[in-house]
Formats: sequence, C-alpha cells, structure tokens
Amino acid sequence: MTQPKQFRASKGTRDILPPDSALWNWFEQTAREVFGTYGFGDIRTPIFEETQLFARSIGTDTDVVSKEMFTFQDPLAPEELVRKVVERGFDATKVHVAGGQAPKAIWDALSEFEWLTLRPEATASVCRAYIEHGMHVLPGNVKLYYVGPMFRRERPQKGRYRQFYQIGAEVLGQSDAPAIDAELLEMLMVFFKRVGLTRTTLYVNSIGDKNCRPQYVELLRHELLQVKDQLGPDSRRRIETNPLRVLDSKLPHEQAIIAKLPRISDHLCAECREHFARLKDELKLRGIAYEENWRLVRGLDYYTRTTFELIAEGLGSQNAVCGGGRYDGLIELLAGPPTKGIGFAIGSDRAILSIRESGDLPRLPGLDVFVAWMGLSTYAAAVAIARKLRESGVSVELPGEEMKFKKSLNLADKLGARYALIIGSDEVASGTFTLKRLADADQKKLSEYELLEYLESEKRGTRG
Ligand code: HAM
Repeated sequence: MTQPKQFRASKGTRDILPPDSALWNWFEQTAREVFGTYGFGDIRTPIFEETQLFARSIGTDTDVVSKEMFTFQDPLAPEELVRKVVERGFDATKVHVAGGQAPKAIWDALSEFEWLTLRPEATASVCRAYIEHGMHVLPGNVKLYYVGPMFRRERPQKGRYRQFYQIGAEVLGQSDAPAIDAELLEMLMVFFKRVGLTRTTLYVNSIGDKNCRPQYVELLRHELLQVKDQLGPDSRRRIETNPLRVLDSKLPHEQAIIAKLPRISDHLCAECREHFARLKDELKLRGIAYEENWRLVRGLDYYTRTTFELIAEGLGSQNAVCGGGRYDGLIELLAGPPTKGIGFAIGSDRAILSIRESGDLPRLPGLDVFVAWMGLSTYAAAVAIARKLRESGVSVELPGEEMKFKKSLNLADKLGARYALIIGSDEVASGTFTLKRLADADQKKLSEYELLEYLESEKRGTRG
C-alpha cells in the first residue's frame, strides 16, 4: 500500500502555535489598546480585492505588483457579467454572455473585474473602503487600524514570508498638518516602547509632492544616465521605470555612486520644505528621536512628502519593522474626493522576532490549576469546582480519566501549572480542597469559598 502524502505548510507560510501565539495575541492586543487611546478604530477589510485596486494604488512598476502578487481568476457568472456591463455604461444587449461573444472592448473593460489578488498590503483596501462608505463626511480625521495577514510572493528567508502579518494605522481627512504625521509617529513609538522594542532607529524623509518631485526625478534620471554603465541591471532598468528606487539599492558597488547623486532635500518646493521642517519641529516637541535619511523612498508608488521606516537592531537584512508615509493623492487616484492620508504598517513577524531575540519577554497567562482528583467518588466534585474556577477566570486543566496521584502531579508540572488542586475522598468528606503550589510545594487546606477568593485575588495581583 502506498503511504498517504503528508502535507506541510506552503513555502513562505507557517503555523503559529501555543505558547508562541500567546505572545502574538499580547503584541496585537497591546497595539489595539495603544491605538485606541489615540482615537483609532478597528477596520476589517477583505483578504482579497480586485487586482486593479492594488495595481493602481501601489504602482505597476513596483516589485510588489510586478512580481509578488498572488492573483487568481474569478470567472464571472453570466448575470454578474451583465450587471457589470451595465454599471460600466455599456449596452447589455450587445453581450452574448452564454457564448462569450461580447465585443472586445467590453471584454477588456470587464476583464479587470475577473482578476482578484490576495492583499499584499492594506492601505489600498482602507482607501477603497473609505471611498465606498463615504467616510469623508465623518467629522474630524478618520483614524483606522487593522491587524491581519498580507501576502507577497517573495523569496522566503528569516523575517521574510509569503504570508506575513501587519498591524497598520491610517489617518484620512482634509488636513495634512505635520502634527498628524508627528502624532502618528508618537503613537508608533509609544507602542514599540510598551512592547519592549526599543533598540530601533526611526528614519524620516520627505520625497516631495506632485509639484516638485517630477523635476527632481528628471534630474535624477539625467544624472543616472551619466553613470549608467557602472550600475547593475536592476538600477539600469529603474532609470526608465522609477529612478527614485535606485536610491534604495543595497548593492555594495552602487553605494559610492548613489552618494554623489542630487538629494531631494535640495529640490523640495517651498511648501514641502516647510512641511518637512514643521514635522521635524513637532517630533522634537514630542521628544521623538529620529534620523534623516534622504535615500528613504519606499517601495510603493503612492507616497508624497513624509516617508519613514523603523529599523530594528539584530535582525539581519530584513530589519525594517515598520514603514509608512503620506499618500495625499491616493484617494483621488481611486476616484474618491480630494483627501489627505498618512499611515504605517508594522511587520509583526519581524517585530516579534526582535522582541524574542532581546529576551525581554512579558509574563503571559499560562495554566493556573491542574485538578488532581483521586477515585471516581471525587470526580463530580472535581467537575463542579473546575467549572466554578473557570467562571471566575482561572485557567484549569481537568483530566477526563482517573490518574495515579504521582502521574497527575508529574503532568501538572510538565504543563507548567502553578497549582495542583488535590481532591481525594477526605477532601470530599470534609468539603475542603488541598491547594499545592508547585514551585515550592507549599500546601493549604481551603474551603470552596476560600479557594475561589484566594485564586481570584492572586490572579488580580499577578496580572491585573
Ligand atoms: P511596507 O514597507 O511594504 O509598507 O510593509 C510594512 C512592513 O511590513 C515592513 O516594514 C515589514 O516589517 C513588513 N513586511 C513587508 N513584507 C514582508 C514580508 N514578505 N515578510 C515579513 N514582513 C514583511 C506597507 O505595506 C504600507 N501599506 C505601509 C503604509 C501604511 N503606508 C501608509 N500606510
């Protein structure tokens, strides 16, 4: 008989198991708490969207869109096709759905609906949702955060996965005041401090806007053409497609060449220069340490003005734990009303890796009580007290089969329980329980009331 196939998680994906998942939950929960104090609300967008949404937002020449998207086709049902045709202003009577005989123009227009992509990031989705739900009419700035998996078909390595997790935040509204950028960065730093990720450097830059960047990009292209022969194939290609991205090159032999290129900071228009200067003042006001990095251009096309990244020590080449920036024109690019936007996304996989490597881990909830019941006559009492303890928030393990006392305590130890609750016939007869602290074998005889009081108050004290 042939052996059945054993399955493994796909390349670049992995399982997050207990107790590791408790660290993840704590990390994400801390973000929710901190972001809540800054007035952010949770947004949950779909895991997949129309491919065009990402292509248009992130840019077709970016690595993410051109090489890394998980895209699949969703053949439309005939009635759906007709609906889309009419929505698009075409004459539905011209579509012979059953035979797929629609004129080419209609097919081309429709084909974009058919392609779906697993989200490689969530800023595009948040903007789509903002427009779709008319959120521009909401008072003040709309502040949203999200927590969830993203998908990029990358070459997996430490800190780089095909399914990875982000915690992101976006601020959308009418104002582009530098105070918004600074407050967002303050929130980010408060969060990183709360989770103990402090060996980080915040890099900031301004990449100008539609008024000044095009001239700078042309200047850069011109300068790059002079040194074209000394550049590698990627940078050479980018001279045409996206010269800014050459600044991002990590190739050792290109570094000296890049160092001599013109810097965007010398070519910002007056408004962008003023915006960047005020941002830096705001960061100082808030005591946020940062370094300027004129080469920080980011790998997604939607950015204007402020860009930033947080780099963590000790992570090797995949050391960016957070990236973000302004994207003032993006909502309009997606056919929404004129809106300003800024946001960031934290790479949870890398951030948690970094916290783990620093060794400064929080004390996370584990098993409180293992119920060691002995003899079938004690089982009913064991079931009852287990339920009562659980109702008061104590975590309890109750073996479903009778075990020898020694084996019971052994298992309690291995499961990392703090206490063994011993229930023998004596205890049942006297209506008491024996609570044994496993760390030092300290033992107490307690009534049910005392037991609940004791464990509840201890829990409040240790974790409250
Ligand atoms: P991003 O720089 O592409 O920005 O990703 C943000 C963070 O996600 C990175 O700094 C990194 O920590 C993590 N990350 C990216 N790709 C991977 C991967 N393959 N494996 C593990 N971690 C990864 C964005 O996604 C923007 N949407 C951020 C943003 C929000 N900008 C404005 N608003």
